[in-house]
Parts: sequence; structure tokens; C-alpha cells
Amino acid sequence: MTLQTRPLSPIVGVEIIGLDATRPIAERTQRELYDLFVQHGVLLFRGAGASAEAHLRVSRCFGEIERHSVKESWVEGIPELVDISYVPPAPGALSATQPIYEVDGRQMAGWLPWHTDQCFMPKLSRGGVLRAIQVPAEGGGTGFRDKIRLYETLPDRLKDRILDLSVVYKFQPNATLHRFGQPPGLRLVSSSAAMDSLVARLDRDFPPAVHPLVYTQKETGRTVLNLSPAYAVGIERMGQGDSDALLSELVAHCLRSDTAYVHAWQNGDLVAWDNWRVMHCAEGTPPDCTRLIQRTSIMGDYGLGRALG
Ligand SMILES: [Fe+2]
Repeated sequence: MTLQTRPLSPIVGVEIIGLDATRPIAERTQRELYDLFVQHGVLLFRGAGASAEAHLRVSRCFGEIERHSVKESWVEGIPELVDISYVPPAPGALSATQPIYEVDGRQMAGWLPWHTDQCFMPKLSRGGVLRAIQVPAEGGGTGFRDKIRLYETLPDRLKDRILDLSVVYKFQPNATLHRFGQPPGLRLVSSSAAMDSLVARLDRDFPPAVHPLVYTQKETGRTVLNLSPAYAVGIERMGQGDSDALLSELVAHCLRSDTAYVHAWQNGDLVAWDNWRVMHCAEGTPPDCTRLIQRTSIMGDYGLGRALG
């Protein structure tokens, strides 16, 4: 079977048409999907995610799925599936399942800033696959930006300047404490139990990591602007004034409004993204809306990250 595709948006990604994920996927088709993943960065399989099995089957086309270390996070007893749903808290509950932020004057549960998964670790995961089970009445979009296009559209003086530079990243679950990429007026309304537990072990479990600002996608030779606005703390071996000025300029370039594709979910959608090449964000949902969504993470390592030191 040769897969049919159509552009997902003028910005990034393609929709894969006609994949039957209810049955095992032929090896040739799996290879074809992997090539499309590398070529386009984001793949939509509309309505193909009717079951956990289909979700796992599509995810495995892109690599081995990471097993979540916390048993309580497993969905349906499957260690490869992680639930990132938001359900409004019951009356009297101590905290919501997701942090609630005020973003652009509105309260949003499960909002996440623009980021690359695990950029605060030496190994960058290969990617992820999301499966929408119940879309919320409002909000819930997932944003993607193509870091190959972001590199291509950089002014030449910046391309030259960043060639040999690296960025230091440090994990911080509270986005109001991020140094770059915060929307104006961002406010944390309430944290979650998971956020509180991460904050308590930040320094012990999450030492800083370093990644180059540019790298070449080996299959295609294309250059990637390898920047995650969230978690970036500075340019390695650069004074703070210069580092802040340069990162602010690069982040402003990355977050221009005309470079984002925001996926409007339908129930049963599967969306895969290449974490080495696109950044993503979560729009969040109003705190009284339910959003049921699960994800897988694809293991991998592009081999260019390292611990600081
Ligand atoms: Fe993420």
C-alpha cells in the first residue's frame, strides 16, 4: 500500500489518508510512515485512534515506546500509555489534575508553553503520539512549529552567529518562572500534586543539560534551529547580558504568530510529532471542561546533548 497524504497546514505536517490501524501495519508501510515523519515533522491520522491498540501500533512505526516508570500513570495497565487528561476537580478536591494558569486573561487547565520534550535532559526523545479520546467543548488545541523553517527564515547575521553556540536548559514545571517565551501577564492560579512533587526534587533529579543551537537532520541535510523557548536559561559560555539579548531575539523569531499550526482535535485523532524537529505547546482548556487524551513517547537520542559541566 502506498500511503496518500495531503498538507496539514501551510506551516508544517501532513495528514495520512487511508491507514487502517485496527490491524497490524505491514513493515513496508511502517518504513514509509517513518520516512514521512522525518520529511514532514507532524503526521495526522484522522479518526485512526479508536483504541489503545491502534495508538500503540502507530506509535511503534517511529521507534520503541518509552515505558513510564510510575505504575500509577499507566493507562489500562499498559506502561507505554500515559494519561494527560484533564477532568474538572470534584467539589472539595485539594487540587486539579493539571496546573491552572491565567493566559491572556483567561484561566486555562493543562496549558503548556512552547517547548521541546526533555530538552532539559541530555537525551532528546524521538517524538510522541497523542490520541484524543474526548475533545473539550472549548480549547484543547496543540500547537506545532517547524524548526527547519524557523532556521531557514532567520536573518543571515543570526545564522552565522549561532553556528557554534549551545543552550543550557534547566527543568522548571512552573512556567511563570521560565526565563523565555512567557506570554505577557502569565499567572499560576493553582498547581497540581504532580507539579508540587516535581518542584520538591528539581535540583536533585534535574541537573542542567546542554544542546547545540543548530544541527543537521541527517536523513535530509536540512538545518534545524534547535531551540526550546521553555526551559532555556542561557547560552553556554556567554555573559548573561549578551546571552539574554540573543536568546530573546531568537525566541521572538520562533514565536511569531505566522509560524504556528494549532491542531483542532477531533475524537479519535492520532497526531505524531518529531521532537527533534518541531516544538509544541498545549493551549489548555477552561477549568470546567473535560479533555481526555493519552500519549506515547518514542525513545531515541540524536546524540548531541550532554550534561552541563
Ligand atoms: Fe510536551
